[in-house]
Amino acid sequence: MSVKKVVKLASVLCWLSLGSMASVLQAAELSPAAKAQAERDAALKVKFPTQYKSWLATSEQTEREDMLASYPAAIILWAGSSFAKEYHSPRGHHFAVADVTHTLRTGVPPKAGDKGLSASCWTCKTPDAPRLMNELGVEGYSAKNFTDLGAEVNSVVYCTDCHVDGKAQLALPRPHAQDAMAKVHLPFDKQDTNMKGAQVCGQCHVTYYFQPERSNKVNIPWIFGNSVDDIEKYYDTRRFYEWIHPVSQTPILKARHPEFEHWSRSQHAEAGVTCITCHMPETTDEQGKTFTSHKVSKALDHFETVCQGCHESEKSITNTLENNKTSINAKARNVEDLLIKAHYEAGAAWEAGATWSVMNDAIMAIRHSQWRWDFAMASHGLYAHNPQEGNELLDIALKQVVYARTSLVEILKKFDIKTVNYPDYSTKAAAHAAMSIELDKLTEAKKQFIKQGVDKHWSEVSRHGYE
Ligand code: HEC
Ligand code: HEC
Ligand code: HEC
Ligand code: HEC
Repeated sequence: MSVKKVVKLASVLCWLSLGSMASVLQAAELSPAAKAQAERDAALKVKFPTQYKSWLATSEQTEREDMLASYPAAIILWAGSSFAKEYHSPRGHHFAVADVTHTLRTGVPPKAGDKGLSASCWTCKTPDAPRLMNELGVEGYSAKNFTDLGAEVNSVVYCTDCHVDGKAQLALPRPHAQDAMAKVHLPFDKQDTNMKGAQVCGQCHVTYYFQPERSNKVNIPWIFGNSVDDIEKYYDTRRFYEWIHPVSQTPILKARHPEFEHWSRSQHAEAGVTCITCHMPETTDEQGKTFTSHKVSKALDHFETVCQGCHESEKSITNTLENNKTSINAKARNVEDLLIKAHYEAGAAWEAGATWSVMNDAIMAIRHSQWRWDFAMASHGLYAHNPQEGNELLDIALKQVVYARTSLVEILKKFDIKTVNYPDYSTKAAAHAAMSIELDKLTEAKKQFIKQGVDKHWSEVSRHGYE
């Protein structure tokens, strides 16, 4: 062996030992859960390379829309809740942990001894949520503060969120989803693979609330069924509300991404076309072998390969989608404009001395109208998933808000109130000012927390896209 070769070999060995030393050092810092996850990840990457690689590719889907800038009326309607501070459209799964960490909605840690936002906010971002539920009990987990568990979160929407660990077999690890599917007579274990596929998405793409009498655990309100009326009945019989609107004193209901609900009643569902068909289509690797693309992304990116398999005319489908979108958007803008007026008219009536006995009908109509508007507004892709229902929701919401305002006109007349001052919500800044939401202050406090807490003590997934 030449001297040159020996030196080269020695330096390679040196690199190798340095490399393994570094990983040993790193491993020593990891918690047992993080270490187990790192080992699982390394094994799955080797065992299922195409699925793994495509799963990783959701990290490329960086784009999202600032919904409060696009639809500033929402700031007025959600005033009194953290939704009014920040709300973005969804983007790639890889951002789920970092986005929930950085949003103003989840704020900063509470003062020592105070109860903050529930750890339940982690439930639909990470497989560490079901792991922690197993370790702490469901209510032990949800009783923690959101920021208490940040350092426990090692991974983002992951194989084990949808599969039995290490297998292709589908799984539903979240207890709230198991319960909910049983409530609508679709117990997970009894379904075929097609429905199971939609149900794994439905663990997270579904409306929910934090159950206050059960330590804020996540609950899916489907006891009577999962239509907008069934869920409303559930909340009304419990006299439940998320917050009291600061202007009108309305006890507000909030919908959250009811994609599963809307899809489940669609023509596509009836024809056996699921979330997987459109968002995770079959594709081929370099060797021509087929596999399921795990780059869960926009359905219209696969128009040729997916939609055109069943719909011949691209033009007619694109037109239909555009028309649906235009119609739903126009109705939503009209309803929100009237809802804002109703909130302020109710506010004026309270100020003039109105009592609950005269206000009850109007307030309940505002509650029910805003619930329907929200059930449409919060459902991403509604115009594609179930445009009929989208239109119906807003048609009824319109009737309800008109009813509320008709009744408020009478009440205001009795108090001889001739003018009501409505807020300026022409831009996000104007709407925030109208609601006294100080974005600069909130942003600065969040920045400090990220710098001192998250960047120092939380795992890399909580910073994805922010470094
Ligand atoms: C959001 C849910 C979800 C996540 C996350 C997920 N999968 Fe899947 N996976 C599915 C669905 C749905 C199918 C299709 C099931 C069917 O139709 O048989 C599937 C199919 C598979 C299959 C069967 C072969 C194929 O390509 O259809 C394998 C293997 C697999 N996934 C591995 C993985 C691995 C490895 C990860 C993590 C890197 C992962 N999955 C993450 C939902 C998921
Ligand atoms: C563990 C919870 C979870 C599961 C399971 C899950 N999602 Fe998601 N999904 C999310 C979250 C959270 C986001 C938003 C991430 C963000 O914006 O940071 C998201 C975003 C998306 C997006 C937007 C992507 C983009 O680039 O605009 C689509 C589409 C989507 N999911 C579809 C699905 C489908 C289809 C399934 C089932 C195969 C599924 N999701 C399963 C939590 C989940
Ligand atoms: C017939 C095909 C089809 C089915 C079935 C379907 N979707 Fe979609 N979905 C779309 C289209 C089209 C859009 C509009 C934007 C896009 O993805 O191209 C969309 C939008 C979305 C979005 C918003 C994406 C964004 O970035 O704004 C989410 C989230 C989503 N779908 C989840 C689901 C879930 C979960 C299911 C099953 C319960 C489902 N979809 C079923 C076609 C479908
Ligand atoms: C497996 C077959 C299948 C796939 C794939 C499929 N669809 Fe459909 N689609 C149907 C069926 C069945 C209906 C209901 C009957 C009809 O209108 O043809 C339907 C209806 C529709 C309608 C309503 C048609 C109308 O004129 O009112 C739209 C819009 C639509 N699909 C869009 C899409 C888009 C976008 C995709 C791809 C993301 C897609 N579909 C993928 C089968 C499919």
